[in-house]
Amino acid sequence: IDALLAEGVAGKRVFVRADLNVPLDGTMITDDGRIRAVLPTVKALADAGARVVVASHLGRPKGAPDPAFSLAPAASRLGELLGGAVAFASDTVGESATTTVAGLGDGDVAVIENLRFNPGETSKDDAERAAFADQLAALADVYVGDGFGAVHRKHASVFDLPARLPHYAGYLIATEVGVLKKLTEDVKRPYVVALGGAKVSDKLAVIDELLGKADRILIGGGMAYTFLKAKGYEVGVSLLQEDQVPAVQEYLERAEKSGVELVLPVDVLVAPEFPDLKTKAPANPTTVAADAVPADQQGLDIGPETRKLYASKLADAATVFWNGPMGVFEHPDYAEGTKAVAQALLDSPGFTVVGGGDSAAAVRILGFDEKAFGHISTGGGASLEYLEGKTLPGLAALED
Ligand code: 3PG
Repeated sequence: IDALLAEGVAGKRVFVRADLNVPLDGTMITDDGRIRAVLPTVKALADAGARVVVASHLGRPKGAPDPAFSLAPAASRLGELLGGAVAFASDTVGESATTTVAGLGDGDVAVIENLRFNPGETSKDDAERAAFADQLAALADVYVGDGFGAVHRKHASVFDLPARLPHYAGYLIATEVGVLKKLTEDVKRPYVVALGGAKVSDKLAVIDELLGKADRILIGGGMAYTFLKAKGYEVGVSLLQEDQVPAVQEYLERAEKSGVELVLPVDVLVAPEFPDLKTKAPANPTTVAADAVPADQQGLDIGPETRKLYASKLADAATVFWNGPMGVFEHPDYAEGTKAVAQALLDSPGFTVVGGGDSAAAVRILGFDEKAFGHISTGGGASLEYLEGKTLPGLAALED
């Protein structure tokens, strides 16, 4: 983007593909981290006199307008953060978008409606995506890719549109890629990875890659129970992906052979039911050893011994990557595991990266100072796929 700014953008319509996919409670944004993350790019362009058209997806609507997934709240928040009015187009490439963009003066900013309201955005059919990309291209003179959270998606606005316009990477993408390179090229050791979250199937590919790269991998969250099951423990009614047990067994064996420490919880907090996240009524969990989960109970957080163990495994790390909460942190009774890992990252003298979505939101919701971490990524799936060594369509499209 510095090259673009040096060329001069005054009067040019610049399409900024952002990732404003923020968590919402109705129309209230519960974490605006992703909007703040794109501010440097939007501000720099507006200050240089560009006519900025910000576009993003939000959630997973089914290729048609759906008020529950409107970007209007994100557009207002962007306006508040910029300290000025932001125009909002109620469609993506229709009349509203066309007139809104035509009405922009130099230095003005507009947001167009959720790109996924158009079936062409996510289509697997190249021609359908291309047709939508052509329509988007008519709205702008230049493309700036800055939606790091979506670069792993081969979508029209991420992959096809940059080929149709002079294209540049924004500040956020440049920063994110710079940080992730530190984890893939010449990483400082010990390199410790903490992985949590609900589904083990989302993490298998990255574990596969990390078994050759990391020194220790700490496992928590709902996915831990598939690992405990693979070790031969009963996990009661905990979250379990039975079909993934054989793959996980193989990883446990590979870790053993390769000398990578794959560390599992030694104790967990259990209760008969999933907690009520709305009322946050006391859940009264009990602590049990990881091999003694009662048949009628489910594990919902790592236990106190595991917290200590994981903190000790992180204490001497030179590099840390953390993705996924350790428990149901949205409920106060199950937040301690996630808090303990976040605190261990803060206490670590090494370079600490929090990868994406839920763990980034957890850090902010639990009240940690995000600036105290080495880097908090805006991309969950995107940062994982980067670490898997995959070619990411949204980065490939900008690289030439
Ligand atoms: C994310 O939240 O990880 C990104 O915004 C991408 O969203 P998606 O998984 O719906 O493509």
